[in-house]
Amino acid sequence: MDIDGLSALVAARYRRTMEFAEVIRRRRMVRHYTDQPLTQEVIDRVLASALRAPSAGFSQGWAFLVLTEPADRARFWPLIPTRVEQTPAMQDAPLVVVPLAHKQAYLDRYAEPDKGWEDRAEARWPAPYWYIDTGMAALMMLLTAVDEGLGACFFGIAPENLAGFHAEFAVPAEYAPIGAITVGYRAPDLPPQPDRVAQRRRPATDVFHHGQWDGARS
Ligand SMILES: Cc1cc2nc3c(=O)[nH]c(=O)nc-3n(C[C@H](O)[C@H](O)[C@H](O)COP(=O)(O)O)c2cc1C
Repeated sequence: MDIDGLSALVAARYRRTMEFAEVIRRRRMVRHYTDQPLTQEVIDRVLASALRAPSAGFSQGWAFLVLTEPADRARFWPLIPTRVEQTPAMQDAPLVVVPLAHKQAYLDRYAEPDKGWEDRAEARWPAPYWYIDTGMAALMMLLTAVDEGLGACFFGIAPENLAGFHAEFAVPAEYAPIGAITVGYRAPDLPPQPDRVAQRRRPATDVFHHGQWDGARS
């Protein structure tokens, strides 16, 4: 191993990481970034975390368009006009990832002998696992960004912009973007964002139903 490889290994081993609870506590959507670049190692760690996400039947029916080159990112933002209007500093993020859900991979996987849904009927699916899994992969990247001391944001791509997105990046029609993720070093919020962590979380008593829905066990 050469010296660069060795120092990368040492840096990876001894880099500071957060307690998991701290990662969860700190996670929030960050919409303002500096133009400070990310190292390739950091980008690789954020991306690699997506591959650790769970997937139904281990289908892994996802793909990710990764935009790191400024010229490629510049092709992306005109496709998201509302977002650019509302939070222009999003465009400074040095990394944009578009998670893509591949439904056909799930229909094919579940037609295999151990699953046996050979008719590939969509009605069999209790929920669209292709979106669920791709969303879980997205969350892995959001959490890894926090662990790396970065900010990240998941945001939607409006239906009217999807055709333009597919055409611009030659993404096959069967790969559906579930949104997009920006990752980068956080800049001060302008205007300040509400502290949703403190103010807006629904209380546990509203959300969790212990034992049964109305809490009155018979
Ligand atoms: C499926 C999904 C779609 C979202 N779409 C957008 C979006 O289009 N624009 C945006 O600014 N934020 C978007 N968000 C971020 C939410 O607004 C944000 O998660 C929520 O307000 C809670 O804030 P927090 O994540 O900072 O705690 C989206 C989040 C999810 C999970």
